[in-house]
Amino acid sequence: GQVEKQGFRHYMLKEIHEQPGVVRSSLETYLNPNWHVSENPDFSPINLGLSSQLYENTDYIQIVACGTSWHASLIGKYLLEQLAGIPTTVDYASEYRYSPKPVIPKTLTIGVTQSGETADTIAALEMERARRSKLDSKFQAQLLAITNRPESTIGQICNHIINTQAGIEIGVAATKTFIAQVLGFYYLALDLAYHRKTLSNERISEIIEGLHHIPDSIEKTLETQDKAIEELAHNFTQETEDFIFIGRGINFPIALEGALKLKEISYIHAEAYPAGEMKHGPIALLDHKVPVVAVAMPGSVYEKVISNAQEAKARDARLIGVTSAMNSQEAAHTFNDLLTVPEVEELLSPILAVIPLQLLSYHIAAIKGLDVDQPRNLAKSVTVE
Ligand code: G6P
Repeated sequence: GQVEKQGFRHYMLKEIHEQPGVVRSSLETYLNPNWHVSENPDFSPINLGLSSQLYENTDYIQIVACGTSWHASLIGKYLLEQLAGIPTTVDYASEYRYSPKPVIPKTLTIGVTQSGETADTIAALEMERARRSKLDSKFQAQLLAITNRPESTIGQICNHIINTQAGIEIGVAATKTFIAQVLGFYYLALDLAYHRKTLSNERISEIIEGLHHIPDSIEKTLETQDKAIEELAHNFTQETEDFIFIGRGINFPIALEGALKLKEISYIHAEAYPAGEMKHGPIALLDHKVPVVAVAMPGSVYEKVISNAQEAKARDARLIGVTSAMNSQEAAHTFNDLLTVPEVEELLSPILAVIPLQLLSYHIAAIKGLDVDQPRNLAKSVTVE
């Protein structure tokens, strides 16, 4: 009822607004405040409570997940490879369970799920344990759950858990649990990087400092963008049938997530592409009726995304840019509409870039009068294959 929604029209909107608090309490739980003054090199900046043996035994990481959790996993792959230098593969659980990779020794298999009950994710992990149990010790399964529900089935079958602590999520479209899973990957990648010495302590400090700014930046995004995005959303509630989302690098998964949110609750067809792939097919779809959302966060691929976006503009697409305020001058020339977030370093930018996309899908669905919290054909927890 209204009481539980605390004045918000839908649970999804309430949960979007809970995200600054979710990030704050997650950071308090998992960051060690005084690590840099510690003389003890075993004292990690991150407090995940995972055994050092796990870190020594991991040369390869396999992630399995579904839906939004799969998108969080793609960001995880980026972080684990780029920060900790560990080759990482992400598979849909429903695919992996029937066509797993040949067994690789010293593999850490991670299942990511907010409900902790997704049948395919559970089955993929159980299959992994079973097939490895017949082999010698260096092949034994090491299973890590990244979940909101440590008491769930996944919590029982995995020997390691990162509890993302986002609290129960009611809206079917995942928002705060996604952010919390992504944070779990930052911690894991930083902890691994610290133990494996793939990042300097200075760089780790810098990233942690950046993480501390995230809750305020999410708050600021919500304050400045909510009304503006609601207004923009009115343009897409009548005739728009397709959307294209583009992004690159660490923000390609955010394009995927923006497209999924739109499909789930607004019932508008949406596709996401790595921006550089647009010219290999999807560009043929573009005209004035197909808006293009470009995740254009400053950093290593910013110029590339801008130039990919300009290619879309040349086909008359309405261009919507998600970018940080710092660049709005430059971006203003490229984009018809700007969804701005506070300045943030590229590595941390997905956590902010997703917020305007959550709001965009929410407002389109709400204006269309759709059942935002319980969209047709979808379930919060998919416990059947
Ligand atoms: C369902 C939900 C999605 C969710 C997916 C994976 O399809 O509607 O929002 O992302 O399941 O769920 P999980 O609980 O495994 O994260």
